[in-house]
Amino acid sequence: MARVVLKDLTKTFNKVTAVKGINLEIRDKEFMVLVGPSGCGKTTALRMIAGLEEASGGEILIDERVVNDVSPKDRDIAMVFQNYALYPHMSVYDNMSFGLRLKREPSGKPWPMNLKRTYTKEEIDRRVQQAGEILGLKALLQRKPKELSGGQRQRVALGRAIVRDPKVFLMDEPLSNLDAKLRVQTRAELIKLHRRLGITTVYVTHDQIEAMTMGDRIAVMSNGLIQQCDKPLTLYNHPTNLFVATFIGSPAMNCFPVAVKEQGGNVVADAGVFAVQLTDAQAKQMRAGGYVGKSCIFGIRPEHIYDQRISTLVQAGAGNTFSVDVDVIEPLGSNAEMHLKTGDITMVATIDSASPAKVGDRIDVVIDMEKSHLFDKETEQALY
Ligand SMILES: Nc1ncnc2c1ncn2[C@@H]1O[C@H](COP(=O)(O)OP(=O)(O)OP(=O)(O)O)[C@@H](O)[C@H]1O
Ligand SMILES: [Mg+2]
Repeated sequence: MARVVLKDLTKTFNKVTAVKGINLEIRDKEFMVLVGPSGCGKTTALRMIAGLEEASGGEILIDERVVNDVSPKDRDIAMVFQNYALYPHMSVYDNMSFGLRLKREPSGKPWPMNLKRTYTKEEIDRRVQQAGEILGLKALLQRKPKELSGGQRQRVALGRAIVRDPKVFLMDEPLSNLDAKLRVQTRAELIKLHRRLGITTVYVTHDQIEAMTMGDRIAVMSNGLIQQCDKPLTLYNHPTNLFVATFIGSPAMNCFPVAVKEQGGNVVADAGVFAVQLTDAQAKQMRAGGYVGKSCIFGIRPEHIYDQRISTLVQAGAGNTFSVDVDVIEPLGSNAEMHLKTGDITMVATIDSASPAKVGDRIDVVIDMEKSHLFDKETEQALY
């Protein structure tokens, strides 16, 4: 059992407030991802959980116990860093067992006299062999780090954390040193490993795809705050604000200002060069919120824009079709990313490769209004 709770957690360095009062519950056995752009406070939050950074305010609880004043070694956590720095002169076996062989004692004596043996040789061997088995490193235990591939080294770093049999794993961008292919592979291995061990994990990344594929839940951070915490598809389908809407999903959601108007019994979002008709549910929301007659931000994801000629999923109608110029086409195989333009509005669409569209063409596109979003222009909160 290990539940981690952050209550109004803050961290101020001199003048910079890196974490501005975050509240988060990481459930027992959960794989929680903290994601957000560089500098938003992810590492700082993780280091506070680890005890490597003192909180300026708020509380950290591990299994109902406040651990703010508990030293890192007594929190029963293991952290895996981006720069995992294996000892180059030691074998895989020794790298993995090092932390078990020697543990620091609060004796006040200088290093290494303050180190003591805490596990028997047999226990250490059992744990290293078991971690080696889990991570597929059994045949490599006698090798030195320089004789391993990047992915194998990464697994040794994980092994070092696994042998400690912690209550909680904290991982700070542990895959960012790997090349793209290996990152995808190791990502899948980490998920399997988590399923097998069931250890509560907090995983930090700035990569939203990594977050979407790995997290049971994802906490999206920006500017020291958690913007939204939910299951991956909930974030994708129901982002709470413009930041989450444009951060989750790739390519990013297209957003542009529109005037919300009544028109012949319907409510339309008028972008100037074209207007789309809101769904009944959206219209109801706009009327109830008093947004008719005001400007809002309209959002549509690239994958919800179709070339009308080949659109089978969404029928073209009066309120969801408009024409655009094709500016750039980036073929990706099964589909293509098309940069579209009309007036001063630009958007990206992920269009099936069956589309005959060419650069310079003027084409009609259909958008799936059911999948479109509306945001308040000032607060940037989602309205629909
Ligand atoms: N020791 C420190 N002293 C002063 N400011 C710091 C310190 N550590 C972090 N910061 C600042 O706190 C903010 C958050 O940093 P943090 O490392 O938590 O970001 P991050 O989300 O992990 O970013 P990245 O994705 O780049 O790793 C940044 O503005 C950073 O400059
Ligand atoms: Mg960081």
